[in-house]
Amino acid sequence: MDCLNIQGGNRLRGVIPISGSKNAALPILAASILCEGETILRNVPELHDVQQMCALLGRLGVNVQRGQDGAVKLKVEDEMNCHAPYEQVSKMRASVCVMGPLLAKRRKAQVSMPGGCAIGDRPVSLHTRGLQALGGDFDLVNGDMVLRAKKLRGAEIFLGGAFGSTVTGTANVLMAATLADGRTVIESAACEPEIVDLAEFLNKCGARIEGHGTPRITVDGVASLHGTEHSVIADRIEAGTFAIATAVTNGETTLQGGRIDHLSAVVDCLRRVGVNIDKDEKGIAVSSARRLEPVDITTQPYPGFPTDLQAQTMVLLSLADGNSIITEKIFPDRFLHVGELNRMGAHLRKEGPTVIVQGVKKLVGAPVMASDLRASAALVLAGLIGKGRTTIHRVYHIDRGYENIEKKLTAVGADIQRATETQ
Ligand code: EPU
Repeated sequence: MDCLNIQGGNRLRGVIPISGSKNAALPILAASILCEGETILRNVPELHDVQQMCALLGRLGVNVQRGQDGAVKLKVEDEMNCHAPYEQVSKMRASVCVMGPLLAKRRKAQVSMPGGCAIGDRPVSLHTRGLQALGGDFDLVNGDMVLRAKKLRGAEIFLGGAFGSTVTGTANVLMAATLADGRTVIESAACEPEIVDLAEFLNKCGARIEGHGTPRITVDGVASLHGTEHSVIADRIEAGTFAIATAVTNGETTLQGGRIDHLSAVVDCLRRVGVNIDKDEKGIAVSSARRLEPVDITTQPYPGFPTDLQAQTMVLLSLADGNSIITEKIFPDRFLHVGELNRMGAHLRKEGPTVIVQGVKKLVGAPVMASDLRASAALVLAGLIGKGRTTIHRVYHIDRGYENIEKKLTAVGADIQRATETQ
């Protein structure tokens, strides 16, 4: 298993290219199940999660070929298998995104029910309720969700849950509705840019979707979808992570290809903290050489502050001159990084879904354990600023969602090395 060794204290300076979005690429790859003919996706990041999705699609009869420059070619060759088994879903929760396409195109979907994970309980009942509203018969068989339908029909579907809408649930219902008879209206749909990208991809394939990017999406079903070419949007969470990396190191970077319009809540937070962040002709320009001010943040569905940047922001606010409050409203248990950051000298106190961050003058390097993808990114940021050496164990989590993170950071001045651990 790999670890990352980081010598803290270097300022980041230069250009960091932003990769294609993981959370946009995964459902769009799954949507290839719906299409007749070849689909070419560009700007698909080279990540473990993407490899897992491609392997699952391969099992489901999709011929997947990765070409140059992040392009992936997909073509359905065999529609017999409709089963995403436990061994696949347990490696990657986003496997659940094949459920809507399989049901709509092959009339049957059998997908292992994902369990909880390091960031907490993660139900998928809104996905299955939405697909049932479209006419799917649901059964739970030996840990697998089994949905069957002779024909899907349009329906009015409400996808709001106790913590807001559901991103991959909206993706599943949206994909299934493209081939249903008649009109589907999804109320309380997720508004995330990744859902907009999926809808734009599906419309290029011949779907008739309107309202994506708002809480009400309307889908007029069509008889079939064809393949197309599409370039995946830039990863807003990767861009946000590198913006914070720049801020904590008092650096100056350009996040090439980054979309500032997808980061409004983060930009607002960073500016209040005292970070300079602006759009420029290449993407996003970030610099910071100032004292950091404390701020309070609450994670919310888009366009609110993203839960996927909560851990990284905790590192930034740990270095602020005063106390901040971070409240997690999407995954109230997503705080496994708190204990590890305290090992590095942060002063964090968790009270239910809230963490009180008492700003400190410095963080110190330490051996720490990565628990999930974004928590790992937070530990990398803490390592960049921590005095001395930080070793992050179980770093495979970070390879699920950040393409070449140590190469990208090394290129702008960080001192990070990957090593293989014997146990
Ligand atoms: N929820 C329900 N019932 C459901 C589904 C969700 O109550 O049936 C709740 C969840 O428990 C949570 C909230 O709704 O409280 C939002 O969960 P959502 O379903 O939107 O999460 P997801 O679709 O499983 C995606 C991203 C996550 C990201 C969340 C929230 C992908 C592949 N994953 O997950 O990304 O944190 O939305 O924005 O798009 C990551 O990239 O590190 C990551 C975890």
